[in-house]
Amino acid sequence: MYDFKPDPALNTAERYRQLCNAVDALTSDEPDCVANMANVAALIWEFIPDLNWSGFYRVGASKSGDKELVLGPFVGRPACIRIPLDKGVCGAAVSTGETQLVEDVHAFPGHIACDAASRSELVVPVLRDGAVVAVIDLDSPNPERFTSEDAAGLEKLALLLSDRV
Ligand code: SME
Repeated sequence: MYDFKPDPALNTAERYRQLCNAVDALTSDEPDCVANMANVAALIWEFIPDLNWSGFYRVGASKSGDKELVLGPFVGRPACIRIPLDKGVCGAAVSTGETQLVEDVHAFPGHIACDAASRSELVVPVLRDGAVVAVIDLDSPNPERFTSEDAAGLEKLALLLSDRV
């Protein structure tokens, strides 16, 4: 049994540090990227409070052969399966290669609502050999849930996952 229960009193930086340690412990020796993404989505859910979705979209091929985002392992309500790279917060993270911290999803042009309860969102790209291969997507029902500390913590996690997803 894996029992990674964070102390509720942890500050944000320490919470992400412990999350990264738990992720490293579960993924360092596992070559299957689906298993790794599934455990990481579950660990994020355990460690990071006030989320209604945590998971992955991977850069894959569309039916016509173009690149687009394809739903990966996640915790939360069922989500849209395919996202064009020029759409939504996730698409913006891929096309810019940069973290998207959205305090109010209703104010983000083109935001894709998979769960009407979502109010804020944090999306961090995962890069391998300089190219975005996936994004980590966190949604919250709370407005302005995510801070630059969350972004920095999730970016460290994305670095760790570069060759594991
Ligand atoms: N809101 C995202 C879509 C994915 S869901 O949040 C799970 C977007 O605008 O790209």
